[in-house]
Amino acid sequence: MKIIVVGTGFVGLPHAAVLSEYGHEVYAYDIDEQRINAYKSGKREEIERYVNEPGLAASVAESIGSYLFFTTDITDVVDGTDIVFLCLNTPPKRDGSSDLSYYLNATHHLAKLLAKRENKKRVVLVNKSTVPVGTARLLENIMNEHGVENFGVASNPEFLAQGNAIVGSRRPDRVAIGADNEEDFEILRRVYSQFVNHVRIRYLETTPETAEAIKYMANTLLLTYISFWNGVGGRLAESFSNIRMEDLKIGVTSDDRISTWGSYVSNGAGGSCFGKDIQSLIYQLNNSGRPTDLLQAVYNINEYQKTYLIDRAVYEAGFNFNQKTVALLGLAFKKRTNDMRDSAALKVVESLLARGVKAIRAYDPLAMDDAQNIWFSPEKNHLFDRISYYPSAREAIAGSDALYISTDWEEFRGLAHTIETTVKPPYLVIDGRRMIPDFRALVSKDYEYLPVGGTLLTPKDSARKNTKGQVSDDLSSEVGTIK
Ligand code: UGA
Repeated sequence: MKIIVVGTGFVGLPHAAVLSEYGHEVYAYDIDEQRINAYKSGKREEIERYVNEPGLAASVAESIGSYLFFTTDITDVVDGTDIVFLCLNTPPKRDGSSDLSYYLNATHHLAKLLAKRENKKRVVLVNKSTVPVGTARLLENIMNEHGVENFGVASNPEFLAQGNAIVGSRRPDRVAIGADNEEDFEILRRVYSQFVNHVRIRYLETTPETAEAIKYMANTLLLTYISFWNGVGGRLAESFSNIRMEDLKIGVTSDDRISTWGSYVSNGAGGSCFGKDIQSLIYQLNNSGRPTDLLQAVYNINEYQKTYLIDRAVYEAGFNFNQKTVALLGLAFKKRTNDMRDSAALKVVESLLARGVKAIRAYDPLAMDDAQNIWFSPEKNHLFDRISYYPSAREAIAGSDALYISTDWEEFRGLAHTIETTVKPPYLVIDGRRMIPDFRALVSKDYEYLPVGGTLLTPKDSARKNTKGQVSDDLSSEVGTIK
């Protein structure tokens, strides 16, 4: 089939690449010339400058020039096209609603081109990136407004998580298609023939509005799981020292009805989707006059979680950040990405600077370039001058008074040894990801340890343990939990 993919970011490029693997003739279109040139080069490092996904560059290199074509102009391509996938970004506006300006620019441009087609065969226009409920209908109106003939609209939301785009596109859990008539469903079945009647992949055909709602429900439910664990499980284990967080997880999620995903307590979920989508859903429901208390609570708990440990350091550990130097390990919103959108580290830095820290010594295996040049550019705020960047965790920790772990990079699991051999107590370790399995050894050597989903552990506890044996249960229980 002849396919155009409009927008070649995280959603569009992997989608175009995987479609071309199945022998479709795919035109990946973007208005960003530099981006398209980078993709056209077929070089891994060029492609990964824009979308860094395992297996993506290899997939592009395999199909480029035979099934996959990159372009900044689709004027000559629209004729005879069967399907157009719209993969435009819809960033959040201040009021929580989705900014549809990129989407509207692209669809009006497309409509003008489609209206002039010579070949009037049926074309289906499919919303692939997350757009508010009702956007397929809006798309239909835009096409009608420009006099486009013989077209259908559909919604086919993307459910991929970052870092898993290629594997996930080849083998999704489900494909949800929302369309209005059999003719359009049939065209989509031909595009996705490898998934139709697949024994393990749910291929769902429904209305466009249902498909749009499925995506919002899925993402906000996932965030609800995380907020439930952070806001209830975490609070319990932070209140009662003999609760073992990881045992709590196993015990609760052993029930088949309860998801294990989301039970990993953290200093808040970030990324470009959860926060944006829940705010957009709140906006959409409020617009219909519906109450949104649950969604609002989920969102608030997640945002609060991002700086909660800094507050705990002040109120529970009595740590005064004023004029202190803090090592910050992890800037990306999760491991294996350089993406810092909505990352907890953004809020952590904001809070540390507001509390008057003298310096922040940062390290992240992938995100430091973006941090320096985009997120914490001193041109944005002179206080960002206080952040310096180091090539390793050890160098970031050297000379600091406290450490904050913000991202779950695997290499941070070995930090106890690095801390012991780099800085002397008194020293506070704030662990936003429960990354240090051997924290008991640290506390016994007079370091203080403050984890998410656990009580503050101080050398005093350790001393008590040694003299009276009172705290041993607390500590060993915690050790037993983090594996
Ligand atoms: C998310 C969804 O998982 C995808 O299904 C969805 O398609 C995608 O958004 C989207 O709408 O495009 P992603 O943003 O890549 O994917 O990230 P996740 O892996 O879901 O992680 C989100 C955040 O939650 C991260 O900060 C992660 O560290 C955190 N998290 C995850 C927790 O704090 N605890 C957990 O148990 C799981």
